[in-house]
Amino acid sequence: MVSSMFSTSFAAVISVLATAANAASLVAVPDFGSNPTGLEMNIYVPDTPAANPAVILALHGCLGNGPGYAQMTRYNELADQHGFITIFPSSKNDSNCWDVASASSLARDGQGDTTGLANMIAYTIQTHNADPAKIFVTGSSSGGMMTNVLSAMYPDIFSAASAYSGVAAGCLAGSPGSSPFSADPACADGQIIKSADQWVQQAKAMSPAGYDGAYPRFQTWHGTADSLVTYPNLGEQIKQWSGIHGVCFQRNNTDTPLSGYTQMTYGDGTAFVAYSAEGVGHVVPAQEDVDLKWFGLT
Ligand SMILES: *[C@@H]1O[C@H](CO)[C@@H](O)[C@H](O)[C@H]1NC(C)=O
Ligand SMILES: *[C@@H]1O[C@H](CO)[C@@H](O)[C@H](O)[C@H]1NC(C)=O
Repeated sequence: MVSSMFSTSFAAVISVLATAANAASLVAVPDFGSNPTGLEMNIYVPDTPAANPAVILALHGCLGNGPGYAQMTRYNELADQHGFITIFPSSKNDSNCWDVASASSLARDGQGDTTGLANMIAYTIQTHNADPAKIFVTGSSSGGMMTNVLSAMYPDIFSAASAYSGVAAGCLAGSPGSSPFSADPACADGQIIKSADQWVQQAKAMSPAGYDGAYPRFQTWHGTADSLVTYPNLGEQIKQWSGIHGVCFQRNNTDTPLSGYTQMTYGDGTAFVAYSAEGVGHVVPAQEDVDLKWFGLT
C-alpha cells in the first residue's frame, strides 16, 4: 500500500517535471486554408507566447521534412525563450524539395507551393494573433531557394529573411523540377549568371503588380566548398538583393560570426548582408542566434 502510493505520487511528480520541461510541441495543422500542392503544416506555439507573437517560417532541404528540420535547428528552443511561433512545413513532392521552378509556384497566388506557404502565414496571424509586421522566413538548401522566392513574391508578408545555401529567386524558373534528380542542373552548377538589373527585374516581376513598398531585409549564407549548389550562386543572390535594396558593398568583416566566415556588409548593413563560409560545403549550419538578431527578435 505504502509502496504503491509512493510510486503513484512519484509517477505524478515525474510527469509534472516532464510537462514543465517539454510542454509545447510541434503539431500538425490539417486545415489551414487553400493548400493546392498538399503541403503539411506543422506549428510550434510556445507555452507562453508573446502577446502578438512574431512568426518564423523555417524550410527544410530536399529529402527532409518539417519535424526533422525542427530537430536539426534551435529555433524552437529559442521560441520558448522569446515567445515567437515557428512553422516547420513539409513538402511532399519532387523528393520533398520546394517547388522553385514551375510557373504556378513562381506566380503570386498561382496555386503552387508558394500559395500554400503564404496561406500558412495568414492562418497563423488569424489564429494566434501573430504580428503581421514580424513575419520571417529562413531555410536551407531547397529551403534557402524558397526563402529567396518567398521574399521576392511576398514582400508585403515577410519583413526579413535568412537564406542558407540557396539560389537567387527565379534561378530555376522553367526547369522541369526543383530537385537534384528533376531539375535542369545549370542553376545549381552556377551557370545561370545574370546582371543585377536582370535579377532585380525577375524578382520584382514576382511581386504584387505595382508594388512599391519595402522588401524583406535579407541575409544569405553560402559555403565556398559547396559542390551541390555551387558558390557562384552566392554572387548571384548578392546581385539580386543588393540590387533590390539599392545598397553597395562597404566592407568585409572576417571571422564573423564564426572563424573562417566572412560577413560582407552592404550599405549600412541593415538591409542586406552576405556570409561566405570558407571551406564549408553544402549545407552551412543554421546560425540561429544571428538570425534572431537579424529579425530584430533579440
Ligand atoms: C510534383 O513535382 C513534379 C516535378 O518533379 C511536378 O511536375 C508536379 O506538378 C508536382 N506536383 C505538385 C502537386 O506540386
Ligand atoms: C570580401 O570577402 C569575399 C569572400 O571571402 C571575397 O570574395 C571578396 O574579394 C572580399 N572583398 C574585399 C574587398 O576584400
